[in-house]
Amino acid sequence: MKKQFLDLGYQPLANEFLSKYTNKHKKYRLKIFFDYKSKLVSISKKIPSKEMFTNKYPYRSSMSKTMQLSFLKLSKEILKRFNPILMLEIGSNDGALISNFNKKKVIGIEPCSNLAKITNKKGFKTYDNYWEINLAKKLKRKYKEIDLIYSANTLTHISDLKNVFKSINHLLSTNGILIIEDPSLLECLKKNSYDQFYNEHIYLFSVLSVKNIIKEFGFEIFDLKNLNTHGGSIRYYIKRKSNKKFKISERVKQQIKKELKFGLDKFSTYHKFSINVKKSKNKLIGLLSRLKSRNKKIIGYGATAKAVTVLNYCNIDNSIIDFFTDTTPDKINKYMPGKKIKIYKYNKNILNKVDFAFLGAWNFKYEIKKKEKRFLDRGGKFITHIPIPKII
Ligand code: TMP
Repeated sequence: MKKQFLDLGYQPLANEFLSKYTNKHKKYRLKIFFDYKSKLVSISKKIPSKEMFTNKYPYRSSMSKTMQLSFLKLSKEILKRFNPILMLEIGSNDGALISNFNKKKVIGIEPCSNLAKITNKKGFKTYDNYWEINLAKKLKRKYKEIDLIYSANTLTHISDLKNVFKSINHLLSTNGILIIEDPSLLECLKKNSYDQFYNEHIYLFSVLSVKNIIKEFGFEIFDLKNLNTHGGSIRYYIKRKSNKKFKISERVKQQIKKELKFGLDKFSTYHKFSINVKKSKNKLIGLLSRLKSRNKKIIGYGATAKAVTVLNYCNIDNSIIDFFTDTTPDKINKYMPGKKIKIYKYNKNILNKVDFAFLGAWNFKYEIKKKEKRFLDRGGKFITHIPIPKII
């Protein structure tokens, strides 16, 4: 049984950056549910993938040094620990991970053809398809078996999880390894980062829920790592139960203990979270309005999907935030989805006349603070809403 615990109102597609502002932007009600049985947290309305992951998808994983470094470290670990003959990445985006591998030993799957084109051009075989059983069957005919499948920040975007794992089960070799990483539900609740919820993020995983989803396919988690990326993620190392080569690490048991201690298995925990989310909204609106009434110039830094949730939930528009700045080519000179706030191309002088910069990309706080030393030295300040709205 599923029960609703949070309503984030009407939200646009978080990556639909339009060149012309319209107040008729298509919006969908964003309600969040907890499933008592599977412990899975999910959004109510599932938008078809074909509407969200198109040939205009703007998000580029290689836009941040933090992500590039994380993928470089992981690629070294994969080679050392598993040394796969052939690996496959589901949701390879612009190749931030696969570019670290030998072109002959890695295959990308990326339904957004604008992104698949980037890696294909560099010589990395990339299929511009959605991940589902017919593709897995086609790949099995061609490549026989894959001994490592990796997917970061992708599986939580696909509504039919049964099809996802059925397809992985079909293609992965008997002793194959599956590594997935996605934002951590525990971290989201601890940080009160309700902006992890948007229409693309259909699920927010925990060890408790992943364990339940995969067991039906004969898989189990044998190791995990907590990561700082995307505001706190978990990397799950998964194998078939029949594969006795790897023992279940203590880290898995510890994480389950932590999740149970925090109450991820209880509805009351989510109810408490929803009260904190409402408080966060009021506090952020109060803080920004007070600064604005003192004629302070506020901009947004990092036109993230997360910021779209915040702006639309808190109803913040260009009377408060003058503009956003971002480095992603496909977001430049467009509007924040659902709000009349323009996005300007980042340059090192963009903060010159700015008093406060709201961190849309709060998950890259350290990278950004380092980059904007000049802004901070002359008295400029960042604002974050994580874990509570404040000036930092
Ligand atoms: P993400 O939080 O979904 O990964 O998105 C990060 C966004 O922030 C992406 O659009 C790139 C942008 N960004 C900047 O504009 N400048 C920066 O220094 C960093 C780290 C990110």
